Amino acid sequence: NSLTVSPARIVDREFKQPLLCGPGPANYWPAMNDALTKWVISPMDDEYFWVLQDIRAGLQYAFQTSSPLVLAVSGAGHSGMETVISNLLGRGEKLLIASRGIWDERACSMATRYGITPIVHSTAMTSTFSLSELEEQLKVHRPAALFITHGDSSTGSVQHLPGLGDLCHQYGALLIVDTVVSLVAVPFEMDRWGADAVYTSLQKGLSGPAGITPVAFSARAEEKIKNRKHEPPFYFDMKLLAQQWNCYGDTRSYHHTLSPPLLWALRCSLQELCREGLEQSWARHTAATARFHQRLQTMPVTFLIPKPEDRLVTVTTVVIPKEYDQLAVLKHIRDKYNIVIFRGLGPTVGVALRIGLMGVNATLQVADQVADALEDALLTLKKGKL
Ligand code: GLV
Repeated sequence: NSLTVSPARIVDREFKQPLLCGPGPANYWPAMNDALTKWVISPMDDEYFWVLQDIRAGLQYAFQTSSPLVLAVSGAGHSGMETVISNLLGRGEKLLIASRGIWDERACSMATRYGITPIVHSTAMTSTFSLSELEEQLKVHRPAALFITHGDSSTGSVQHLPGLGDLCHQYGALLIVDTVVSLVAVPFEMDRWGADAVYTSLQKGLSGPAGITPVAFSARAEEKIKNRKHEPPFYFDMKLLAQQWNCYGDTRSYHHTLSPPLLWALRCSLQELCREGLEQSWARHTAATARFHQRLQTMPVTFLIPKPEDRLVTVTTVVIPKEYDQLAVLKHIRDKYNIVIFRGLGPTVGVALRIGLMGVNATLQVADQVADALEDALLTLKKGKL
């Protein structure tokens, strides 16, 4: 009566942690190792609710909102997208999607699965949207919400947002913003800019592990959730999650078991952020990327995004001459320097490399390290190739 499946051969392999200079994940803050091995707290402990409270306060600072409906959902960045879309819109409602990269395509695909009607307004991947063209779309379609990506890691562009919240509200729409690769690196002020639903990630500017995703909803969005006629998935239902996260007082309702290491990790990243300060974090990211861009000017490469003001601070999309094999460049940088950079994604596949400086890696020193490695790859591979 022996088992039909034998034990798997699970062996440890050698691995040296690379310097992660792609579009995310970034390396961890040094304090993260301790955070990830802190106590296992159960969903009934007082300590657990203290941690949730610390996280909510830290997130209010990170998003710049005083809204009570702020918490973190279990899952990577996509769970944030799923949460905001499914909580705010139901079958037959219109979601206007300002599309310039892969994340907007994902939003469209999610909306379709919920029976929401997506209306896609696209621009070139090298560009961003003007407020007047978005106003035109809002006026024509009168959607329930507009979805827009602040920083787009697939194209390396940043969307200008101030003024958009007021416009959306003028036409009766809520503003949904993806800040996965922009928060804490690029200025973002949820309340001041009138954003209604936002989400970010832990593995990019916040330099922690993927797997837990901060979300925040404005008073307008809360009202919509309160009066909605549809039910979102149980796992992402903000009405239930708000009871678990004590958004409206000491409710302590059990919903699902949150991962203790991920809670500690998020708390650790927020503690780092609050120690440094948002403005200082924005300035550090800007300075590191300015240095990297300065170094690029001396190499035989071009920026995919032509307008400097549209270039995303966290992810630079770099076009190298056609004669180079992009994968050979990536491999050289990994093999010789143990630095990871990425190729394109979605519209930039085969078009540009994606090089990221974010979180703990947003320093002049890392900017120089990755620039040195790229410079060497371009010189070395030139010999054989060109
Ligand atoms: C992931 O977020 C990526 O941009 O590759």
